[in-house]
Amino acid sequence: MEKIIVLDFGGQYNQLIARRVRQCKVYSEVLPFTAPLSKLEGDEIKGIIFTGGPNSVYDPSSPHVDPKIFSLGKPILGICYGAQLMAYTLGGKVEPTVKSEYGNIEIALKGASPFLEGVPEKSQVFMSHNDRVTLLPEGFRLTGSSEDCENAIFENQAKRLYATQFHPEVEHSVYGQKMIENFVLRICGCRGEWKASSFIDSQIQKIREQVGDKKVLCALSGGVDSSVTATLLDRAIGSNLTCVFVDHGLLRKGEADQVKSIFGNKDKYHLNFIPVDASSLFLERLKGVTEPEQKRKIIGKSFIDVFKEASKSIPHCEFLAQGTIYPDRIESGLGISATIKSHHNVGGLPKDIGFEGIVEPLKDLFKDEVREVGLMLGLPEDLIFRQPFPGPGLGIRIIGEVTPEKVEIVQNADAIFREEMKNSGYDKKSSQFFAALSNMRSVGVMGDSRTYDYAIVIRAVSTDDFMTAKPVDLPYSLLTRIADRIVNEVDGVNRVLYDFTSKPPATIEWE
Ligand code: XMP
Repeated sequence: MEKIIVLDFGGQYNQLIARRVRQCKVYSEVLPFTAPLSKLEGDEIKGIIFTGGPNSVYDPSSPHVDPKIFSLGKPILGICYGAQLMAYTLGGKVEPTVKSEYGNIEIALKGASPFLEGVPEKSQVFMSHNDRVTLLPEGFRLTGSSEDCENAIFENQAKRLYATQFHPEVEHSVYGQKMIENFVLRICGCRGEWKASSFIDSQIQKIREQVGDKKVLCALSGGVDSSVTATLLDRAIGSNLTCVFVDHGLLRKGEADQVKSIFGNKDKYHLNFIPVDASSLFLERLKGVTEPEQKRKIIGKSFIDVFKEASKSIPHCEFLAQGTIYPDRIESGLGISATIKSHHNVGGLPKDIGFEGIVEPLKDLFKDEVREVGLMLGLPEDLIFRQPFPGPGLGIRIIGEVTPEKVEIVQNADAIFREEMKNSGYDKKSSQFFAALSNMRSVGVMGDSRTYDYAIVIRAVSTDDFMTAKPVDLPYSLLTRIADRIVNEVDGVNRVLYDFTSKPPATIEWE
């Protein structure tokens, strides 16, 4: 099977690159930069992509490659740190920038190239760098520049080496996917025949090999990721699977009943389904805790404690299955990248989880790929296109201490926001939207009296992959109607704020 290797130098977008390659219908695998050359040699490997990373190439402790990699005869695309590494290793010069470039920047093309076929003369790309290539190695030529970065795109066509200082893999780079497609299909010569059904077959096989005839407990929240995981496991091991739904008291208004009525319906779903009400345990453990990472860790551990307890009633239950997807892992600081936040099912897990092993069939996929697999497995569209809801739930949408009163405030405000988004049709134009409770109280006036109440924040974003996101342009009339309803109908709130920050630099959730 033809494949492209993504060599990981510790950037935040490594699997996103792999995913962009899969979008060209070519299989892609991420390997650490320490992978031996022998792993990069086979005929099935059609090309290599060097990722970005947080280091400076001239720092002796930064990740480097064996220079022989450039003599393997494989096309290589270097991105950001990867571009600097390529230039530096081959005799070019890399220096700190006078002014670091960050965000959406315009680049202008400086010459024709197979890598730039179909890319207009000027377009927007996403830059994030403090170093830049100031001298190209021999045999290289410049093909694109930005105002502050002359060597923004460069190449050695004869040796099939290409490099971009910016990140073509993120959505903000408008023609980035086109460049990756040019690299994979034109330069590496891949045919593009890989499909999602190959993923389902290979995962069913892997699950069977991993768990044998042991029983598996699957953490089922009713969201897209865990529902797809449960369905894959059901296909792989049938009645050896039990699904446990934990109500941690931090769900959206009415959600616990909804999940129980869907998966408890024996006519529709044939899963062994156990609902557990653990709300008092979670709320008790979160009392007085304000630090976001600590909250996430408490929630992660409490989930495991509840699953472990539930597994006692299932003989030979040795595996825990969860719907972890790639963005959960990368933000939790997978491998050598920085920890942004500990997703409850990864960085939030205790060291000893008390199960023999974890089954995570979706761990390398992005949300839209999970949805594609879910549809192929025959799950209903309304479940597949549900917006994501994080495992720690309202626990990370209540800034500061979580109390039952605050949970009620944010549940009520969120229910109004959701109703208005649905009525206006903006729910379909947003990938995720929610209300969060800021820990800020401010003075207001209600009737003839002074109030000193909380501010609710509303946030609606659009994204394909949840690694980057843009705020949705909600009409002013809708925003004011939502604000009026929330302050009038929800006790304890006297102000509504609209968060219109992109990710990056913000994240989607507030904690
Ligand atoms: P952030 O806030 O990191 O969120 O931009 C990206 C996506 O991940 C979801 N999210 C989580 N999902 N467990 C989850 O299952 C978690 O701990 C978690 N934290 C964030 C978030 O809702 C968004 O869709």
